[in-house]
Amino acid sequence: MDRFRIRGGLKLRGTIEVSGSKNAALPILCAALLTNDTLTLRRVPRLKDIENLLKILAELGAVSDRRGDGTVFIKTESEANSVASYELVSTMRGSFTVLGPMLAKRRHARVSLPGGCVIGVRPVDLHLKGLRALGADIRLEDGYVVASAPNGLRGARIYLGSSNGSTVLGTANVLMAATLAKGTTIIESAACEPEVEDLCRCLVSMGARIEGIGSPTLVIHGVDELHGATHEVIADRIEAGTFILAGIAAGSEVEVANCKPEHLTAIFDRLDAAEARYRIEGKSVFCYGGAPIRATDVTTYPHPGFPTDLQAQWMAMMSVADGVSMITERIFQDRYLHAAELMRMGAQIRRDGPICIVRGVQQLSGAPVMASDLRASAALLVAGLIAHGTTIIRRVYHMDRGYENIEKKLSALGADIRREEDRGAGAGDDASEAA
Ligand code: EPU
Repeated sequence: MDRFRIRGGLKLRGTIEVSGSKNAALPILCAALLTNDTLTLRRVPRLKDIENLLKILAELGAVSDRRGDGTVFIKTESEANSVASYELVSTMRGSFTVLGPMLAKRRHARVSLPGGCVIGVRPVDLHLKGLRALGADIRLEDGYVVASAPNGLRGARIYLGSSNGSTVLGTANVLMAATLAKGTTIIESAACEPEVEDLCRCLVSMGARIEGIGSPTLVIHGVDELHGATHEVIADRIEAGTFILAGIAAGSEVEVANCKPEHLTAIFDRLDAAEARYRIEGKSVFCYGGAPIRATDVTTYPHPGFPTDLQAQWMAMMSVADGVSMITERIFQDRYLHAAELMRMGAQIRRDGPICIVRGVQQLSGAPVMASDLRASAALLVAGLIAHGTTIIRRVYHMDRGYENIEKKLSALGADIRREEDRGAGAGDDASEAA
């Protein structure tokens, strides 16, 4: 197991490239199960989660070939095995979206329930509700979802909202299933995240008929079959947002390049309120550090609201802001494991249920800290970059799930960050998943 050693307080300067989106690429790779033709995907990030999903898809008969330039060719060659085991699905929640495609194409599937994770209870009731509405027979057996539709799925009107908003992967699952259903499906309260939009665009290039892309009402006219296609995955808005916050917190001038600023409007709104200095130019965001950041409240919401996947990194930045800010987590109410670790570095944070109050301090100080999930590790990284002294972040495998070449990218900006082997006690005792 690896850890990062970061010497903080150095000014970052230069250009950092954003990779393809992990959370867009995951369901799009699952879409390969909807056809027997080859799906060619460009800008697929080289990440642990992608590697794991490709293994799961290989078990399910989809053979892939990955090139050095980020292109993945994937083709379903066998439909003999439709069982996605607990051992595989429990490593990553994103793999639960093999269910909808297999059910639609093979008419049956047995997929392990993903289970809970460190950011809180994460049910799949909406996924199952949507697939049932399409006519699937679904039962739970020994921790598995056993789904079948011997006569095929049929279109329906489905409401997919919950008290916490829409569901990203639930929308992806039901949407993919509906592409091959008989008749028309209307998904209301569909997730509007850019990753869902990207999936829709890929499905359309495979022959799916979808209206309302990017809106909360998706209308899917089922077709008899889908075919191969070539699709480029969108830029990772969460990776971009992490770099923007790091650039503002620790930079002098950092260009976050090759991103889609239009996917980050809520972040810019909050940065404006914080009086942060940045400039958008085409696909680049130029971030300027050095100026004081005003303490600014955020509340996480489904897109286009402030993303829960940037809440931890925002908290790291707020821990050295001028004043007191309030952070409210409305998507995953327990997603605050990073708060205690930030406090080990001198942050002043008080939590009351879904709310954290952050009192900005002059300076954080480096400390040994433990990453608990992917975005928590990103927050500790931002904190480590701005802290005085040395920070050791343990369990960086969480980071490797969602950030491609992070230490190389940051080193190129002048950060002092090194990956080293962690032989410490308890280094290998946790493999909980979150993303
Ligand atoms: N929910 C239900 N029932 C369901 C599904 C979801 O009540 O059947 C609730 C959840 O408990 C949560 C809310 O709905 O309160 C939203 O969850 P959602 O289903 O949208 O989350 P997800 O699809 O499982 C994806 C991302 C997460 C990201 C969330 C929210 C992937 C692989 N994961 O998860 O990404 O936080 O959407 O935007 O796309 C990450 O990348 O670090 C990560 C955790």
